[in-house]
Amino acid sequence: MYKKIAEEKFNNLKNNFKTRDIIILGIESSCDETSVSIVKNGREVLSNVISSQIDIHKRFGGVVPEVASRNHVLAIDNVVKEALEISKVNLEDINAIAVTYGAGLMGALMVGVTYAKSLAYALKLPLIKVNHIKGHISANYIAYENLTPPFIALVVSGGHTAIIKVNDYCNHTLIATTTDDAIGECYDKVAKVLGLGYPGGPVIDKYALEGKENITFINNANKSKKDGGISYSGLKTAVINYLHKQNQNNVSVNINDVCASFQKEAVNPLVDKLIYVAKKQKCNKIVVAGGVAANSYLRNLLTQEGKKNKIEVFVPPMKYCTDNAAMIACEAYYNLINGQGLSDLELTANPSINLKYTKK
Ligand code: KG4
Ligand code: ZN
Repeated sequence: MYKKIAEEKFNNLKNNFKTRDIIILGIESSCDETSVSIVKNGREVLSNVISSQIDIHKRFGGVVPEVASRNHVLAIDNVVKEALEISKVNLEDINAIAVTYGAGLMGALMVGVTYAKSLAYALKLPLIKVNHIKGHISANYIAYENLTPPFIALVVSGGHTAIIKVNDYCNHTLIATTTDDAIGECYDKVAKVLGLGYPGGPVIDKYALEGKENITFINNANKSKKDGGISYSGLKTAVINYLHKQNQNNVSVNINDVCASFQKEAVNPLVDKLIYVAKKQKCNKIVVAGGVAANSYLRNLLTQEGKKNKIEVFVPPMKYCTDNAAMIACEAYYNLINGQGLSDLELTANPSINLKYTKK
């Protein structure tokens, strides 16, 4: 019964999107942010409430999956209520429910997926499943109202490092991805060994501003193949080895210099690769997405390289770089109008969902 009604409503929305408004309630709970957003016609954010657990996880030096799930359970109901209140939209005005179903932490994802399924069932609304990585890319559609595919996207977060060709709203080709750690994960691990706390990215970003790039941490893996795999575990090991050596020799470490030198090695080869791919694909638009897009060094270098190479660079404002549900509702809208993403109540979380690697 539910399935039939949801299918009918989904098709009705899809067939009439040009002549009517579509309001989507999006839910994001893949890591340590519980977020709910209400978005009209894909790009107009009526509300975007984010309840962050960062302070809870800080004392453990990273996200503890079980703690994250329990805090999502505690937060989600109030976050939904607040999102509705801010948007001044009633539950009856919502046309579809969207939810991140992967990638992310299993238990954390399950909270959002279960809540979304219950809401969709109770309201007899279509349920749209969203891939978190594609959601990050869509954050740029909210930030830049005239942005349209095709473009090259750089997704840089705690769990992902990927260069993706976005051929169309629902047509993505994975060009290069990490073979081991993600860039954000690398920032977080380096910050941990430096005793800088969690999350590491923003702190390293800040310390690096005061430091000199005078230490050599070679990350050959990222230099070898211009459009091939990306790797961060070697860089992390290089920093750890350097710190051990200095410690053994009783030489003091200048943390600012370590941060600046590490950051240069983490970001420069990636930007080189990205520009190389954009030129090779004859694409003059680059879009950056994910938590590490908040990094000031990456933003500056890309803007500079973009200008030099006549490539337009889009980076979302800080609030849309890290996890949020507005990007999930936006991505769901483009899925919906292209007839994709409709899910039934069997939907389950998929922690390791990824984009398929397509050989060019
Ligand atoms: O996208 P996100 O909020 O969550 C995931 O889907 O992973 O990204 C979180 C990551 C963390 O690794 C954090 O250290 C990193 O983004 N990050 C930064 C900065 N702000 C957040 N990395 C470098 N520089 C920053 N300013
Ligand atoms: Zn994310």
